Amino acid sequence: MQIVFLGLPGAGKGTQAISITEVFGIPHIATGDIFRAARKEQSELGTRVSEYLDKGLLVPDALTIEVVRDRLSKDDTKNGFLLDGFPRTEPQAVALEAMLQEINKPLTHVLYLEVPKEELLQRLTGRLVCSQCGASYHVRLNPPVNEGVCDRCNAELITRKDDTPEAVAVRLEENLEKTKALVAYYDQQGILRTVDGTQSIEQVKQAINRALTEAKA
Ligand code: AP5
Ligand code: MG
Ligand code: ZN
Repeated sequence: MQIVFLGLPGAGKGTQAISITEVFGIPHIATGDIFRAARKEQSELGTRVSEYLDKGLLVPDALTIEVVRDRLSKDDTKNGFLLDGFPRTEPQAVALEAMLQEINKPLTHVLYLEVPKEELLQRLTGRLVCSQCGASYHVRLNPPVNEGVCDRCNAELITRKDDTPEAVAVRLEENLEKTKALVAYYDQQGILRTVDGTQSIEQVKQAINRALTEAKA
């Protein structure tokens, strides 16, 4: 299974990707997580992307595409993968198609988690993320069992630097039109499935599971 999750910032891509990749036993590849990890390690990539991340701007296509190409060349992608947050622009989608053609693993599912823009602001400004495994929580909508610590790995929960109202506004602005264009791009190819992302986390998970299994049949 080669899956792409499309969705605006805060749509629930990361939340759902964690459980879906566990169920299907495929790696969860999130460009945002890769960039944040690089910054934490203070690698050259981290230095190059840091300013974009903080401001909520998209990292340039050429760099992002190289990062994904490198990640997809790893052995653990042999049985498939789930891409969360890539592609985000048409050039990225075109590059992905070419890369996957080379390794003979075309996309099998593109799922669009649809949530109206108005709901995203409150989701993002109340979000907490695990400092170790990247799991997402929300102070009110999806609180952890024990305050301040991750249910999955017990590490400390923190607030992402780009979850300020200012950076969230930039992220939405950066992504709105581009996401629309990608939805149309994959719809034209006939592999797009839209999932109502405003339902509860559990309901969205079930809808995604249905979309993945129905499309396989
Ligand atoms: P990235 O980390 O991908 O951020 P994003 O796209 O802004 O998306 P988020 O991670 O914020 O949202 P999500 O959909 O994962 O939501 P989540 O599940 O956490 O990218 C960060 C940055 O990296 C970008 O700004 C850019 O600089 C760079 N970048 C990354 N990819 C790039 C690319 N391809 N090209 C160029 N640059 C790139 O959920 C959000 C909140 O809602 C949580 O609090 C959660 O608990 C809650 N929630 C989730 N589902 C529900 C539900 N059903 N009901 C109620 N609450 C819910
Ligand atoms: Mg995410
Ligand atoms: Zn964790």
